[in-house]
Amino acid sequence: MHIDLNERTAVVSGSTQGIGFAIAQALAGAGAHVVVNGRSPGSTGAAAERVREAVAGARVTPVAADLATAEGAAALHEAVPEVDILVNNLGIFGSRDPLEIDDDEWRRYFEVNVLSAVRLIRTYLPGMRDRSWGRVISVASDSAVVIPAEMIHYGVTKTALLAVGRGFAKAAAGSGVTVNSVIAGPTHTGGVEDFVAELVGADRPWDEAQRQFMREHRPLSLIERLIEPSEIANLVVYLSSELASATTGGALRVDGGYVDSILP
Ligand SMILES: NC(=O)c1ccc[n+]([C@@H]2O[C@H](COP(=O)([O-])OP(=O)(O)OC[C@H]3O[C@@H](n4cnc5c(N)ncnc54)[C@H](OP(=O)(O)O)[C@@H]3O)[C@@H](O)[C@H]2O)c1
Repeated sequence: MHIDLNERTAVVSGSTQGIGFAIAQALAGAGAHVVVNGRSPGSTGAAAERVREAVAGARVTPVAADLATAEGAAALHEAVPEVDILVNNLGIFGSRDPLEIDDDEWRRYFEVNVLSAVRLIRTYLPGMRDRSWGRVISVASDSAVVIPAEMIHYGVTKTALLAVGRGFAKAAAGSGVTVNSVIAGPTHTGGVEDFVAELVGADRPWDEAQRQFMREHRPLSLIERLIEPSEIANLVVYLSSELASATTGGALRVDGGYVDSILP
């Protein structure tokens, strides 16, 4: 398969590190002009530089904007008025006793994980429809379908994101714009690396440590290791391409078989 995104402009929310950064790098590798986003000029500038180092000739624009706010979304829109590929990657997570999560914390999770995506879809979908081509991809999680007791607030926002994707796919019906969600499983990001070290110790090689972590703490994984961010990015690049023109309204898994279900 040959994927050429040379004529496309892509925005990846929350892409200065982790999965978002891998997606930005992979889209740039496929030729897209990529907008990397984070909250500060320092982190976005450094991420753009890292993409340029990794991908010869990459076209990357850093835009610092807090996308948990309407002002941040408006600032991004002003900086980048037209977008062909929107990747709603921004998301926060953390373990909390569910009985101790107060209303403000619930609202914060909703603002960052759900409304940030809704605002950007509202911002960019009309232009995509007018041009008869567009891709919207939101990064959900296994926690959307297997709600963890210690992360109910997170799981709920990711379930909501799946509904947002399905609903907006209907709103885009027949327009040439596809809207999908990617269900990412346990992934090897910086935060997760610290978590693994905390649970199984930092005194052994990474591969051994992560496999022990998966055996003991994520036994449902069928690949018995963490997913690399680039593996999530591969599916996002495919969904962003011409080749995925008949896939819309879907929730596609890159979870290493973690969710014990045949569908989605
Ligand atoms: N890690 C996993 O195992 C896993 C598994 C399944 C799904 N996911 C999902 O994958 C996505 C990415 O997760 P990750 O672990 O790669 O994230 P991460 O490493 O925590 O990175 C978060 C990114 O978001 C940016 N960010 C945070 N708040 C922001 C805001 N208000 N406005 C704009 N940017 C903001 C950060 O940039 P600055 O700090 O520079 O602002 C950073 O680039 C999330 O939606 C997450 O739920 C992750």
